[in-house]
Amino acid sequence: MFPKVRMRRLRREKLRDLFRETKLCKEDLIMPIFVDENISSPKEIPSMPDYYRIPIKMTADEVGKAMELGIKAFILFGIPSHKDDLGSSAYDDNGVIQKALREIKRNHEDAVLITDVCLCEYTTHGHCGIVKGYEILNDATLPILGKIAVSHAKAGADIVAPSGMMDGMVKAIRDSLDENGFENVLIMSYAAKYASSFYSPFRDAAESGYKFGDRKSYQMDIHNSDEALREVELDLKEGADIVMVKPALCYLDVLRRVKETFRVPTAAYNVSGEYSMVKAASKMGWLNERDVIYEILVSIKRAGADLIITYHAKEVAEHLQ
Ligand code: PBG
Repeated sequence: MFPKVRMRRLRREKLRDLFRETKLCKEDLIMPIFVDENISSPKEIPSMPDYYRIPIKMTADEVGKAMELGIKAFILFGIPSHKDDLGSSAYDDNGVIQKALREIKRNHEDAVLITDVCLCEYTTHGHCGIVKGYEILNDATLPILGKIAVSHAKAGADIVAPSGMMDGMVKAIRDSLDENGFENVLIMSYAAKYASSFYSPFRDAAESGYKFGDRKSYQMDIHNSDEALREVELDLKEGADIVMVKPALCYLDVLRRVKETFRVPTAAYNVSGEYSMVKAASKMGWLNERDVIYEILVSIKRAGADLIITYHAKEVAEHLQ
């Protein structure tokens, strides 16, 4: 007890680092890249200041610059030139993501390439599954997700990341990958993905806004966390290698429960709205951007994330060892 015990002894400037329990490192970071098939030079995303859509031919450069900063892993999102009701450009071997994968692989063999496997950017209605009337069909969507994953794997994806919250999506993808000889391609499942209001800047960025309704019939209810454990358990049984909690900041409690319950590789997605809030406040001069970003990412790691998908990847990597 005090005065023998003094916690402040541990906080002296030169000693403090020795007692640091959480260390953020560059290997924790996954950088998102928006690849746009319709542009020829980078285009800033209005609701995500300092973040750009990149044309296919510049993706290798973008990856190269980030790798120089020590970032190893990238997740690719595509903005295709063609959309239809079935999202067929998502599994076209000459689609935007497939072309970008080949471009990056040719130049950067060592980059870890992850692809978002979903229909919303590729369908005219903007939903994450096949639509009949106003219903988003689950089972009819599964074979299409399998086709997308195989086509990404063929083009060089190391990890596929289904984000559509369809039941059985991990199994469908695992089966299709295995049948096609891609048993070494990993699955990072967006296992506990909430129907969050923090995705709206992303929908701007990826042109994936929906034409009717909302995503509440497939994404999780924000009030629940036991349900997140069920989602994760099912995805692990279906063959997920990495499970994800998304968004990160309002769901750090869920992240902690997932990590403590399953002890498997766990990712957190520091989503677009979380990024934009920081950017907006920083631009107003209300927050110290660099310190706030670091504190946010440390908090996500401390809560249990092994991997963090973040739009701040490059800015934070510059200051990490
Ligand atoms: C596609 C997808 C979304 C995000 C990642 N993949 C949008 C959505 O579900 O509406 C959101 C990412 C972000 O906000 O940064 N299904």
